[in-house]
Amino acid sequence: MKKIVIINGSNLNLLGKREPNVYGNKSFETYFEALKKMFSNIKLEYFQSNSEGEIIDKIHEVGFNCTGIVINAGAYTHTSISIADALKAVSAPAVEVHISNVHQRETYRHHSYLSEACKGVVLGFGLQSYELAIQGLLLDN
Ligand code: DQA
Repeated sequence: MKKIVIINGSNLNLLGKREPNVYGNKSFETYFEALKKMFSNIKLEYFQSNSEGEIIDKIHEVGFNCTGIVINAGAYTHTSISIADALKAVSAPAVEVHISNVHQRETYRHHSYLSEACKGVVLGFGLQSYELAIQGLLLDN
């Protein structure tokens, strides 16, 4: 069975409460239940951490034995060469996700260290960005 691991980084545990005008008012836990129903033919796993090292450890743990990784590293996207290196180190392909369209926001959000380590990037479609990323990982190419 195909297995996709969703990794959320810093401050994404506060989805639903945090800046709802930008990130919406649904918690990730609620959305994840809907995601599992949408993709009932694959195994979906979810991990969140506010710590860069824990995110790297998770990538090492799952990155050699899953079909793909969906990663929204939060602000680490714009700062972390280490997370980019971890994504490059493992064999599973990754898709970078952002809930908001970071290119319509502050210029410091326009650069991502992760994009070059990812197969694709989905951003700006709210929480639905995650389902589009999963669909991308399930494409036959
Ligand atoms: C985010 C965008 C980042 O710039 C920000 O730091 C986040 C969330 C998004 O999903 O839109 O924490 O990754």
